[in-house]
Amino acid sequence: MSQDAEKLIIFDTTLRDGEQSPGISLDATEKLEIAEQLARLNVDYIEAGFPVSSQGDFEAVSLIASRIQGPVIAALSRTHLSDVDRCWEALKHAQQARIHVFISTSPVHMENMLKMNEAQVLSETRSGVARAKEHTNDVEFSPQDATRTPLDFMIEVLQAAVDSGANTLNVPDTVGYGIPWDFGALIAYVRKNVSGDYVISTHCHNDLGLATANSLAGVAAGARQVEVCVNGLGERAGNAALEEVVMALKIRGDQFPGIYSQVKTEEIARTSRLVSRLTGYPLQYNKAVVGRNAFTHESGIHQHGVLKDRSTYEIIDAESVGQKGSQIVLGKHSGRHAFADTLSKMGITIVGDALNAAFARFKELADRKLDITEADLEAIVAEELGTV
Ligand code: KIV
Ligand code: ZN
Repeated sequence: MSQDAEKLIIFDTTLRDGEQSPGISLDATEKLEIAEQLARLNVDYIEAGFPVSSQGDFEAVSLIASRIQGPVIAALSRTHLSDVDRCWEALKHAQQARIHVFISTSPVHMENMLKMNEAQVLSETRSGVARAKEHTNDVEFSPQDATRTPLDFMIEVLQAAVDSGANTLNVPDTVGYGIPWDFGALIAYVRKNVSGDYVISTHCHNDLGLATANSLAGVAAGARQVEVCVNGLGERAGNAALEEVVMALKIRGDQFPGIYSQVKTEEIARTSRLVSRLTGYPLQYNKAVVGRNAFTHESGIHQHGVLKDRSTYEIIDAESVGQKGSQIVLGKHSGRHAFADTLSKMGITIVGDALNAAFARFKELADRKLDITEADLEAIVAEELGTV
């Protein structure tokens, strides 16, 4: 690692924003099990919940705070002083704790939800952050719906937060409205216009499928914390997926000189499976990095390439994310190389004309049947060799 290498702080919010996905409700024991795995994954922060939202969430945050070693434990709070105090009550047994204070700053949220004007939002920001700072030195502030907030007001609120004691400024793209270059420019603008000592963070939602791209644009523009969820869980279309952001940084390090994460990538697949099982959210087959098809090849040309050298069609080493190596699946697009290779792995030797004829039968079957099993292959070979 070069001397001026900079760590990208991985702030995992699977247990807070991720749990806000419709239909997910984890009890304290399940949350603890996920938190233990997140600690093995070596994330820097675990946002364990929103203590004021329910008694169950309060208890889950307390349990995680008192049991988990390694990552800093964070929890979310509105600016109300009683919320901040309740948040701290849940966090107070953690080895290291962060209070994450937020308030909406966009006109549409202020008018319809908060019923506050700009002066009131500024005053709430100051008082909420200052109260959090009385409890812990580690305070994060988020202007909710930042990407739809007028720039001048956003800067004013962020400056008030820093002046009141916030040391992380999170820029939430709450409704997934950002486009990579404009979100990157927003981060650069904050960096230039808010004075003080703070880390800039991204929090990108995926409504336009751009959460990972926007987070990375933020990092390129100077953000040094990303808020992410395992499997991209989160409100509506979800948040930036931890596994995508971490692997993009690793595989395309050339685009992020000197920036690294300390995530143990070999734990990614196990974490993804655990989260999928406990939340009941199945993983889409073609999900980047952790999907069942991420290292699977069906077409003949691709199979031929991968059998020679996996880097022909894979940019990630499957084992480096805890997945099984390249998988060859036989289907109607498969070629003779993959067919023969699969038979040889099954211990079947068949060559010359018999191989050609068996391959022709296989193609004919694959046109009609989606799942070609070992039993199908054995039957094809047996028929061809006249052993049935
Ligand atoms: O999306 C959002 O704005 C949030 C904040 C509470 C950070 O989740
Ligand atoms: Zn969010």
